[in-house]
Amino acid sequence: MKRLAAFLLTIYMPANAADLAPYIVVNANAIPEPLIAGPADPELGAALMLGAGCSACHQKDLNRIGDRMTDGEMRLMIVAPEVRVPDTAMPAYYKVGVYGEVADDQVGKTRLSAAEVEAVIAYLKTL
Ligand code: HEC
Repeated sequence: MKRLAAFLLTIYMPANAADLAPYIVVNANAIPEPLIAGPADPELGAALMLGAGCSACHQKDLNRIGDRMTDGEMRLMIVAPEVRVPDTAMPAYYKVGVYGEVADDQVGKTRLSAAEVEAVIAYLKTL
């Protein structure tokens, strides 16, 4: 008997935010498709990473990350890291802030927009 395809697809529709792009997580490992179509700007990504405080936890460990992870794996790590690494200390940068879990001015917002997530990935690939 043929085995069923081993893909596990999970479709997330971010709550309370009609303007957020839905995304598909494959095998709890990657989001293969970009959140938005079109080119992503690595220079913007570099600036965003400064603002997002990535370097508080990451120094040289992201060097050559593009050789070790696919775009989709990086995307999931930025969007919803807890799916790849349960109990990770890394914040989810594309999760709508919930009252009580984030500062009041972050409630209902994501740390990065869809375009900004893609810009960060574009920059990571230059490291
Ligand atoms: C509070 C600490 C923290 C911050 C801030 C943080 N990360 Fe992380 N990140 C981690 C940890 C810890 C891991 C490793 C997974 C684990 O063990 O939890 C990780 C893993 C990663 C990975 C996968 C690396 C690998 O070798 O597996 C990428 C890519 C990444 N982070 C990118 C980012 C980017 C981009 C930002 C900023 C937008 C960021 N991180 C901000 C803690 C952080």
